[in-house]
Amino acid sequence: MTSYSIIGGTGALGAALARRLADAGHTVIIGSRDADKAAAFAADMKAGLAAPANVSGLGLVDAAAAGEICVLTVPYVAHADTLAQIRDALQGKVVIDATVPLKPPKVGTVQLPAAGCAALETAAILGDNVRVVSALQTIGAEKLASGGPIDADVLVAGDDAEAVEAVRAMLAALGLRSWHVGPLANAAAAEAMTSLLIQINRRYKMEQAGVRITGRPRGSPRPGPRLTVRAVPALPLFGPGDDLAAAIADALAADEPPRDGDVIVVAQKVVSKVEGRAVLLSGVAPGPEARTLAETTGKTAEVAQLILAESGEVMRARDGVVITRHRTGHVAANAGIDTSNLSSEGGEAALLWPLDPDASARALRLALETRFGVSLAVVISDSLGRAWRMGTTGAAIASSGLKPLRDRRGESDLFGRVLQATIIGVADEIAAAASLIIGEAAEGLPVAVVSGAVYDRDETVGIGDILRARHEDLFP
Ligand SMILES: NC(=O)c1ccc[n+]([C@@H]2O[C@H](COP(=O)([O-])OP(=O)(O)OC[C@H]3O[C@@H](n4cnc5c(N)ncnc54)[C@H](OP(=O)(O)O)[C@@H]3O)[C@@H](O)[C@H]2O)c1
Repeated sequence: MTSYSIIGGTGALGAALARRLADAGHTVIIGSRDADKAAAFAADMKAGLAAPANVSGLGLVDAAAAGEICVLTVPYVAHADTLAQIRDALQGKVVIDATVPLKPPKVGTVQLPAAGCAALETAAILGDNVRVVSALQTIGAEKLASGGPIDADVLVAGDDAEAVEAVRAMLAALGLRSWHVGPLANAAAAEAMTSLLIQINRRYKMEQAGVRITGRPRGSPRPGPRLTVRAVPALPLFGPGDDLAAAIADALAADEPPRDGDVIVVAQKVVSKVEGRAVLLSGVAPGPEARTLAETTGKTAEVAQLILAESGEVMRARDGVVITRHRTGHVAANAGIDTSNLSSEGGEAALLWPLDPDASARALRLALETRFGVSLAVVISDSLGRAWRMGTTGAAIASSGLKPLRDRRGESDLFGRVLQATIIGVADEIAAAASLIIGEAAEGLPVAVVSGAVYDRDETVGIGDILRARHEDLFP
């Protein structure tokens, strides 16, 4: 493990870096103009870390002398003066310079010094016996302080390849991807970039904008197809009459608008809620058939009544279990009726499937397509059990914009044999993929966007094709 002195370690960037370094097991020395302040700051930091760590605080010169590698994180106004003080203590060492040569207030405009950049000034002050590496200018302190993964790259400039690689190895150990972007003089571009990021944060109301280098290693194989599933964040709790399509559209617009071909998977529960499908059990009058079903299964007579009302046929009923063919044709436990995640204000309630789930899916698709001007599909999903297998999976109870089955019969396999029976339940597969992240319990994430799924577009069909006809039942 290496020891790092952080000159300016009581500040925003220095403290965030110090914490990450200490978390990674390195020795950290906080350097401050005030040694007592540094010691107290280090003690506080140590106390707040999850594991015991080696963190101490010293005055500038002592701190600079104590670390094997020194990181400079002071404002540009203090840059030259601070370096002059610690120059002797740094001889023979590697210095990482994070300085951005900005003098407030016009920090949104690039300000580079006459020497070219702050890093070259640092090198000139410290002399030939110090290896200066420029890094971190494009990483916001808050992002670094979050402790989580960082979705931005570090541009590292330096003339000494060994020193640059040591710094890059340290960054990698902290979870930061970095690029050696050339000689120290090239630090000018990274230092200038900060003002561009400040502009982007301001103009687009972004937080902690950063840079990411794209591209692929030369000669690497073309990337394979990619499927992504992302939950739509920041949706409200829904109630009867709410405009679900508008809420999803607003949340998507604020997060990341959908692209052509994306499938929006919506949990049945929220569709049912906005469509007012919650029923107060106190208002249900059970009939004789419901009472018998309740006795057989241990369900309340009111729930049994709702199950019967929602079902075309009760297929199996025994203690704790009712499997029915829902009036839409789906086979589901309890006719899809659910009593979880319902506020009990006003009494016990049960939530029924939408009256016409395919119509709900279609209305959502049309509203979202109109809002974003792209072709989308919508799948309404619920968790269903599967014959002969334990565990529920997300399954499609309604769809719009896609064929729920992908019929591959007649296509050839890799060896030219013609596929005879391959029909893929693509709507169910998409629902199952989304159910890996959309929440049935306390997650509060009822909508996901699935991108990259291969399906056949169809704007007219609903989920019907996925239902096996009664006469094909092998276990009647
Ligand atoms: N903040 C970021 O997101 C970020 C990102 C990339 C690069 N940078 C660069 O990193 C450097 C540090 O940024 P920062 O935001 O961490 O700065 P900061 O919090 O304002 O200051 C860092 C520390 O520098 C010390 N300091 C020394 N002389 C100072 C002076 N004359 N005025 C004020 N403080 C002085 C202070 O420590 P003591 O009082 O304990 O001596 C202070 O805690 C800057 O060059 C900045 O451009 C910042």
